[in-house]
Order: sequence, then C-alpha cells, then structure tokens
Amino acid sequence: MTLDVVLGLQWGDEGKGKIVDVLAARYPVVARFQGGPNAGHSIQFGNTSFVLHSVPSGVFRADAINIIGSGVVLDPTIFRQECEAIEALGIPVRERVRIARRTHLILPTHKLLDAADEAALGKGKIGSTLKGIGPAYSDKTGRNGLRVGDLEQAGFQAKYDTLKRKHLARLAQYRFEAPFDLAGAEARWMEDVQYLLSFPLIDVEYETNALLDAGQAILAEGAQGSMLDVDFGSYPFVTSSSTACAGACTGLGVAPGRIGKVYGVFKAYCTRVGSGPFPTELSDATGEELRQRGHEFGATTGRPRRTGWLDIPALKFAVMISGVTDLIMMKADVLDGFDTVRVACGYRVDGQLTDRVPYDVYADVEPVYKDFKGWEGDLGQCRREEDLPEEFKAYVAYIEQAVGVPVRILSLGPDRAQTLIRK
Ligand code: IMO
Ligand code: MG
Repeated sequence: MTLDVVLGLQWGDEGKGKIVDVLAARYPVVARFQGGPNAGHSIQFGNTSFVLHSVPSGVFRADAINIIGSGVVLDPTIFRQECEAIEALGIPVRERVRIARRTHLILPTHKLLDAADEAALGKGKIGSTLKGIGPAYSDKTGRNGLRVGDLEQAGFQAKYDTLKRKHLARLAQYRFEAPFDLAGAEARWMEDVQYLLSFPLIDVEYETNALLDAGQAILAEGAQGSMLDVDFGSYPFVTSSSTACAGACTGLGVAPGRIGKVYGVFKAYCTRVGSGPFPTELSDATGEELRQRGHEFGATTGRPRRTGWLDIPALKFAVMISGVTDLIMMKADVLDGFDTVRVACGYRVDGQLTDRVPYDVYADVEPVYKDFKGWEGDLGQCRREEDLPEEFKAYVAYIEQAVGVPVRILSLGPDRAQTLIRK
C-alpha cells in the first residue's frame, strides 16, 4: 500500500483537519509527520466541533490508528489537555494514538525562548504562535533535544536539567522576564510526561513500513502550509519544519517511492496569520468581509487572520515542490454572493510580469488579477456536481487549468456532509 499525503498549499489554516477526518474513513492509519501544537485542525460533525493540535485528525474515526511521527515536536502538557478532552467525548484515545520515540519534546523553557526571540525581533517579529516550536526544532537540529524515547531511559532528569540550564543561560542574555510561572509549568510538565508514557511508544519507521507491507494505507496529515516551509516558504517568516511532501518521508521514516497520492488542500481565497509577504492581501472592507464570513480567526491563538484573493503563482509553486496529484478546494461557500471574485494569475515585480514566487520577501509584488463573475445561491446546500452554479464551475475550471491539477474534492461548509467528491 501507499503513503498518501494531505498538505496545506497556502499559509496554513486551509481546512486540513476537516479533510483528513473525511478521508480517514478510507484510511486505517493517519499520521502527523511535522509541526506541533502551532497547528489547529478543526473538525465538525453533527453538533460537535473540536480543535486538534497534536493528535492526528483520524482520532474520531473508530478503528483508525493515529500516529504522532518523529518529525513532530510534542508538548506533553498540551497533548494531555487535548487527549483528556477527547476522552471526555467517550473516545478511547489511548487505543487510537501511538507516539514515535524519536519525536522531540517541547520543554517549558522552549516557550520562554520563543517569547524572548520574538520580543528581541521587535517590529521584525515572525508572529510565532509562541508554542516553543522554533526553539524545539533548533535544539533538534543542534543535537541538544530531548526525545519521547528518552523518557523510558535512565538519566532523563539529568538530561532535562542540562538542557534547561542552557536555556536559562540564553534567557539571561536576553534579560527576559518570564511571562508565566516557570516552576509551576515544570512541575506540571513532569506529571504530563508520565501521562504521555501511558500511550504506546513506537519505532515509527518500523511501524509505518510494516503497516504498509501488511496492506494498510496510511494517510499523512500535514500541518501548516507549503508557504510556511522552512526551506521553500517566505523565510524567515516561516515555521521551523518541512511542510512539503518530502517532510512526510523524513517525519515517518517512509521512502519517497512509497508515496501515492498527494492531496493539496487550498482555500478558495487566501489567509495568513503572523508576519511575512502576502501579495493578494486585502486591507479593505472586502478583506474584512472575508474574515467575518469565513470566521478567519486563529484556531490556536485566536488572532484575526489576514485575508486576500486566491494566489495562483503561490499555488503553482506549492504544487510543484510537493508533486500534488489531487487538489481539494475548501470554503468556496464563503465567496457566495460576492459580485466579483478575483484571482491573482501573475505578479508584477519591479515592472516585470512573472508567475514565479520571488526570493526576496521584501520585494514589491503587485498581483495581476483576473476577475470572475460571482455566483448566486448557497454552495453549502449543493450535494451533486449538477447543483453547482455555472459561474462557480467556471472559477474551478480556471484554477484546474492554471495549476494543471484536477480539483477532486470541493468542501462547501464545515460539516462532513458538506463535501462533494468529484469523478
Ligand atoms: P495549521 O496546521 C497557520 C504561522 C504562525 C507564524 C509562523 C511561525 O493550523 O494550518 P511558529 O509558531 O510555527 O513558530 O510560527 O507560522 N503558523 C501557522 N499559521 N496555521 C498553522 O497551522 C500555523 N502554524 C504556524 O502564525 O506566522
Ligand atoms: Mg490552524
């Protein structure tokens, strides 16, 4: 069987949680491969809605195995809160979730370092979620990190103390005042790592390959989006992990040849939280309308999201770096009733027309728009292709032609039922 991958193609918040929950009905295994609690994956079914941060979005499907992969960074305290909330819904979370030993741990001092780094950047700040993501990945690549598997070994406390001392020394240089009670957070963290140990710990590379060999298809669930990739995003305004398809291989120990479908999830418009370039951003009443209608407020931090029109050069870039085979368009219903829907089909950079995403994040990029006539009616009610308004079909057809990949799924509302799978 293959490892199929779901990726966000924009700046995160594309609706990956909903789609993974829908697709999970077809996959016995769902795995997160990168990112951490900076993610906020929202799922709604019936009257229940839930935001997942660390646990894969297959957890609400009976019988699905959910894996937290080695490319993830895990905060034991957030993980525990999340699992207890899932358990409160009557879901046997311990039977459904397994954790890679190679997964790196987020320490309370990583969160302090995140806050101190951002404060030091002042106006140039990244707009991090302040969950300790950047500092935890820095320790991983700097070979200082603590991993889940270390919890099973002797000498964990000593390793923890050594790393904490390094962090405190750096914080002292910043003369940074802790915004929370560190001793209290640490005491709790130590209890929460014990809770984490009540879950099955796995050697993820053996587990994933054995599952595939046994005929079990795996769905890899990306967090964040391609434009936040540490290598190919708008550096330094990025997250600290590989959000592109390649990250699924390194984050789960699966070879590239085993990848099957690559589902690229994008919203029918764009949003971004935090700093960094956003060529099609709308700072006007239309942008506010998109934010209100689309409920574009962060699922993790509550921050208002920046909003703008769909950006085709960015979408093509994301499709290229990940080899997307199937597009999934989300939240087109938010555009219901707009007279005109715009799409950036290219950019003008220094007076030159281009469809390439520029290296320079400070470049003056002016989008070149194509306008589409808006559609009447309520997309959220459409259950069949025949129900879709012609103007909307023309919008989708243009995107498919411009990007060169078919839109296989249209999500037309937050509920599982509002999902149109196309032939
Ligand atoms: P999901 O999985 C949207 C953004 C932050 C910030 C930058 C770096 O829900 O799509 P970090 O905390 O990673 O150091 O922040 O990345 N960011 C996200 N934006 N959705 C996310 O996740 C994000 N995770 C991080 O706002 O600009
Ligand atoms: Mg989110």
